Amino acid sequence: MNILITGSNGQLGNEMRVLSKQHANHQYFFTDVVAAEDVHILDITDRKAVADFITKNAIDLIVNCAAYTNVDKAEDDEATAFKINADALTVLGSQSIRVIHVSTDYVFSGNEHTPCRETDPVAPRTAYGRTKYAGEKNLLAVCPEAVILRTAWLYSTYGNNFVKTMIRLGQEREELGVVFDQIGTPTYAADLAQAIFTVIENPVWHSGIYHFTNEGVCSWYDFTIAIHELAGIRTCNVRPILSEEYQYKTPRPHYSVLDKTKFKKTYGVEIPHWMDGLKRCIAKL
Ligand SMILES: NC(=O)c1ccc[n+]([C@@H]2O[C@H](COP(=O)([O-])OP(=O)(O)OC[C@H]3O[C@@H](n4cnc5c(N)ncnc54)[C@H](OP(=O)(O)O)[C@@H]3O)[C@@H](O)[C@H]2O)c1
Repeated sequence: MNILITGSNGQLGNEMRVLSKQHANHQYFFTDVVAAEDVHILDITDRKAVADFITKNAIDLIVNCAAYTNVDKAEDDEATAFKINADALTVLGSQSIRVIHVSTDYVFSGNEHTPCRETDPVAPRTAYGRTKYAGEKNLLAVCPEAVILRTAWLYSTYGNNFVKTMIRLGQEREELGVVFDQIGTPTYAADLAQAIFTVIENPVWHSGIYHFTNEGVCSWYDFTIAIHELAGIRTCNVRPILSEEYQYKTPRPHYSVLDKTKFKKTYGVEIPHWMDGLKRCIAKL
């Protein structure tokens, strides 16, 4: 197959580039808004550019890793976030080819007490969440056979993320307050990329929405303790604090654990625990 990967300079896009080397049976076209080594320029909001690229390169499948991911900035500029996270999904979905798209736990309210299933009602509380949910709806309206993977708490050796920030702050500071009343599942982008290849290589195409994160749950505080432990940081005292002690610009979900039963049953796979993913990521950093 000829596979178009959008957002290739991002965390997930980079992990797709790494993993694609183990799947040399396909030809890959890596793209993003900024050119890089082996990455061509393609703005997913540009309808003509997308259509021309797909025709010229006889693309069979789109894996959309592109997104507007800055949750706080999206509050001030929802229009731009909407263009990339929602409008562009109509563009990508209208090309008469298969699409794998990535969405987020932020489509839910974050006030749940049990892991969210794909069929649970959504109630996004942020501009980012609203734009991502609109993107899901736009995509399914024009491409009902699409596969959408909702994920959460993504980190990688690439880009800026919580793991890298906590390592830096742990090295700079003697004390750090981290919230312990927000519960979720850290997800190594390399494991999400593996899940995407599971979908691609499966002999049967199963359209629909799926939840995918690593296994297990923790708070950001527990996650930070694990990061510092694995990174060998011993000089920083990490304190558990409440969300109300941290000045968040945007409301954060208190509980946003995703139930992955549907993905595991459909594809017959086991998913690594978040600690396992974290160990592999830190070993690479
Ligand atoms: N990060 C998380 O914690 C998290 C959690 C849940 C779900 N997700 C979802 O997971 C997916 C991957 O996230 P990620 O963390 O890998 O994102 P990321 O690192 O922010 O990468 C997204 C990439 O898309 C590019 N992009 C932005 N606008 C574009 C456009 N118009 N056309 C083409 N490319 C464009 C970005 O470029 P610029 O950087 O130059 O804008 C960036 O290189 C996204 O769908 C995201 O919503 C992420």
